[in-house]
Amino acid sequence: MTSQKSVLLVIGGGIAAYKCLELIRLLAKRNIKTRVILTKAAQEFVTPLSVAALSGEKVYTDLFDLDDESEMGHIQLSRSADLVAVVPATADLMAKMATGQANDLASTALLATDKPVMIAPAMNVRMWDHPATQRNLAQLKEDGVLVVGPDKGDMACGEFGPGRLSEPSVLADAISNFFHDRLPTGPLAGRRMIVTAGPTHEPIDPVRYIANRSSGKQGYAIAEALAGLGADVTLISGPTRLPEPEGVKTVQVQSAREMLEATQKALPVDGAVFAAAVADWRVENGSDQKIKKQDGALPSLTLAENPDILATVSQMQTGRPELVVGFAAETQNVIENGQAKLTRKGCNWIVANDVSPETGTFGGDDNSAILITDGGVDPWPTLTKKEVAVALALRISEHFQGKN
Ligand code: CTP
Repeated sequence: MTSQKSVLLVIGGGIAAYKCLELIRLLAKRNIKTRVILTKAAQEFVTPLSVAALSGEKVYTDLFDLDDESEMGHIQLSRSADLVAVVPATADLMAKMATGQANDLASTALLATDKPVMIAPAMNVRMWDHPATQRNLAQLKEDGVLVVGPDKGDMACGEFGPGRLSEPSVLADAISNFFHDRLPTGPLAGRRMIVTAGPTHEPIDPVRYIANRSSGKQGYAIAEALAGLGADVTLISGPTRLPEPEGVKTVQVQSAREMLEATQKALPVDGAVFAAAVADWRVENGSDQKIKKQDGALPSLTLAENPDILATVSQMQTGRPELVVGFAAETQNVIENGQAKLTRKGCNWIVANDVSPETGTFGGDDNSAILITDGGVDPWPTLTKKEVAVALALRISEHFQGKN
């Protein structure tokens, strides 16, 4: 489960302010919490009461109300959400933001925040086209403010052109994409990646299964590190106890066959990292009902070999990812076995690691990995799994550097 995200919504005083009520509703449907600041002018268009009813939160209107000890201070308020969104961003609010004014609650919060800011401008077309507004817009973009819209169309004032507030559904998508999709920047921005992680569970009957000791920590850390460099990551995870990483699309599966299916569904991608400890065998004669004891007679389980996901993807004739990275869990002759695995499966790189019980790698936090590529063998010192993940993600981004 990804933790709930929240938006501090600054509603500006424009005719389109009423559309924020729909926006708050759409965000709630996407499990995004909204806390609202209404400017004085905005209160001419929507009432604090209607906003409070929809957001389920106290609505903030006045800088000086917040001096009360029992209230949240304006600095705290400005940092209480994951994103600050200004909707509609009026010409006046944009001017205040661009010049760093702080003379009411909204502008003070916007100056004090340390969170990303998104604006959705809306105003009369001439106001939008005015060099002063365009100057402010350029300044805001330079300051890192994200801008959605405005749309072109018939305006409430009877004119036609750019200046209409983007539709609430578009704004809700922009906000949820900001939280859940790929980060807009980073060396892997625009690259799609798959990571498999965790063990698989191969059912024997509805209550029993074959499993292994993989915790999923390494694969989850890789997914997170790749997303941190801007990649659009799909994490295909067997059963683990880990929280789903931020900014990554996670698909939960149980068995090897489900993992293969989810992997194929996530294609095409630029790169794939197969960190899962996939069960080599499944039970072919599994039962739909719980198997009962039968006077000492032992059930006999017949095993069948599972599909090899890494080999299947590595050997695809069309649509193979450009870079396929496998893991080799070994207990002896780590480099030789790793190299043999690279050739046998047909992947580009292998991260080989010693999983002998004395290393504590399986289930633990550390990993002594050796990266095997066609360029050679690169042993890494013992690192935490998070550090291995970052090192691997950086190597992957170097691989893609300069390619389109
Ligand atoms: N792998 C896979 N599908 C399988 C088995 C393994 O995708 N059915 C992948 C793993 O995710 C890993 C790599 O293959 O990236 C090697 O896994 P490992 O368990 O070390 O190798 P095996 O192929 O199982 O070989 P062996 O157990 O004989 O060493």
